[in-house]
Amino acid sequence: MTITRILAVSAALLVSAPALAAEGEQHHPEQHDWTFAGPFGTFDRDQLQRGFQVYQEVCAACHGLDMMSFRNLGEEGGPFYDPEYPNPNDNEVVRWIAEQYVITDGPDDLGEMFERPGIPADSFPNPYPNPQAARASNGGALPPDLSLIVNARHDGANYVRSLLLGYGHEAPEGVTVRPGQYYNPYFPGGLLAMGPQLTEGRVSYTTPEGGEEVEATPEQMAEDVVAFLAWATDPHATERKRTGLIVLIYMLILCGLTWFAYRQVWSNQEH
Ligand code: HEC
Repeated sequence: MTITRILAVSAALLVSAPALAAEGEQHHPEQHDWTFAGPFGTFDRDQLQRGFQVYQEVCAACHGLDMMSFRNLGEEGGPFYDPEYPNPNDNEVVRWIAEQYVITDGPDDLGEMFERPGIPADSFPNPYPNPQAARASNGGALPPDLSLIVNARHDGANYVRSLLLGYGHEAPEGVTVRPGQYYNPYFPGGLLAMGPQLTEGRVSYTTPEGGEEVEATPEQMAEDVVAFLAWATDPHATERKRTGLIVLIYMLILCGLTWFAYRQVWSNQEH
């Protein structure tokens, strides 16, 4: 490549870069106040239950949750944790949830695959038998697995919430929205194959015994499902934060004791 060609190509890139940026300008996620943010953040159990309901009734039609098994739901810190069942495999709610799913198992002694109701140790089944089938049902786009999505994306919790609520903007000039595509300024490039999901009245929340009534507005559903997905990304985060705090307190006490012992040992010595 000659120098002039290199210069010409660089000039062309310089000219087209701002044009590209303008076309698919991605909005920064809106910042939200999460209960689980920061070193002392924790998940709200009622919110995790509502978020799971949204995942189950809306997102699970297209998105898998491969890294989760039903028993995770009943582990400490999870949406259906019950201290009466330290082993989540015995947790009645978890067992009931698992039983609602049909799991393909096998092969049996005759080499046949067979179907059976789920048990707590099973992973959430994927809505599609393979990625090709998933693409075929979604206009060629693959709905990503949601187990790790909150950690896999930059500013994940805010990103997913903004994306879910980010429909209804006019596509900027120069962006052609083809059939089966939707414009959403929070998605890289602005065009995606997932339509608005959390419309008014999509799920209805039941009030847990003694809990407060929560209305299923789009904002509320988005916040709840993101909290659930953030928990699912790292189910043991709260436990780890608590252990960290205990270790910190232990170290501080140890430090104090060491200082005290040092003073005692050297108290009779002239410096
Ligand atoms: C009808 C099927 C369908 C449903 C229901 C659905 N999605 Fe999607 N979703 C898709 C498809 C297809 C894509 C990929 C879009 C693309 O790449 O163009 C997608 C993409 C996404 C992304 C973007 C991931 C990325 O790559 O940054 C997130 C996050 C997401 N979905 C979350 C959800 C959540 C949460 C729900 C439930 C509230 C949900 N989706 C419901 C089909 C669906």
